[in-house]
Amino acid sequence: PTPVIIDCDPGHDDVFALWLAAGNPAIDLLGVTTVGGNGRLEHTTHNARVALTVAGVEGVPVAAGADKPLRRELTPATWIHGDNALGGPELPTPTVPLDERGAIKLIADLLESAAEPVTLIPTGPLTNIATLLEQRPGLGAKIAEIIWMGGSTGRGNVGAYPEFNAWVDPEAADLVVRSGLPLTMVGLNISHQALITSEVIESIAAIGNETSAFGVELLRFFCGTYDAVESMPEGPLHDPITVAIAINRAVATIQRSHIDVETTGEFTSGATAVDLHDMLGKEPNADIAITLDVPLFWQLIREAVAALR
Ligand code: BDR
Ligand code: CA
Repeated sequence: PTPVIIDCDPGHDDVFALWLAAGNPAIDLLGVTTVGGNGRLEHTTHNARVALTVAGVEGVPVAAGADKPLRRELTPATWIHGDNALGGPELPTPTVPLDERGAIKLIADLLESAAEPVTLIPTGPLTNIATLLEQRPGLGAKIAEIIWMGGSTGRGNVGAYPEFNAWVDPEAADLVVRSGLPLTMVGLNISHQALITSEVIESIAAIGNETSAFGVELLRFFCGTYDAVESMPEGPLHDPITVAIAINRAVATIQRSHIDVETTGEFTSGATAVDLHDMLGKEPNADIAITLDVPLFWQLIREAVAALR
């Protein structure tokens, strides 16, 4: 199996990314780290532990990282994820412990001790990953690739162009994009193909275990806020597309392109400028996920949820 570390800000869709990684046999989930994003760090860290507890996942260390972006204040996405970043279900007291090493030390330890290079999957702002690359540049050789949910080739969701994860910490995104490490960008352009239809919700409910029941409550809340905020009653389940790509790259079509992250634009701060048509003639620095195999994606989600508690 592919060794993976997920750096996340749960967040409804982050929870499904954790479950997909924990429930699919092609992935070896080495560790989970958290970042301030959808909610404040205390909430996202609590929620990551809740997600693993609900699914019965044991032995995967969870450590907390940055509570705010590198050079900005944090604006949590309460309008989509609620005040605790995981609105909807009643949250059980997590039994999964908190690893006191902190995110950067945990990731560094896991990379150092791994027998082969590890895939990093950030599904939130890139603050922790940027900090790791700055503090421990020598560990780049132990990173197989970074598969990030963030950015967009077109529309944004916190402005005309910026996507939330890139917009929260554009300086971190800029640093990661320019790191030279193999990078796949899973942006809004593909994540808006993973729509949570009523058929999807019914098929997950039909699995009939504790994880599916909790998941259905998450999906209903999430679709409710997407309906209220974006008039999208079928909300997009962004984050687990990253893990699906780590499981089976055929789940998405990919185009290699050059990306720049806008850090100063008056109207576009936090936007990813993705040069899909090679206007700039610059060396490509990322694989851009373009088209999702929607049935395969939901099949992977269902199989993982069914394999959990
Ligand atoms: C991203 O922002 C968060 O709200 C989601 O968890 C996802 O990672 C989508 O823009
Ligand atoms: Ca997220």
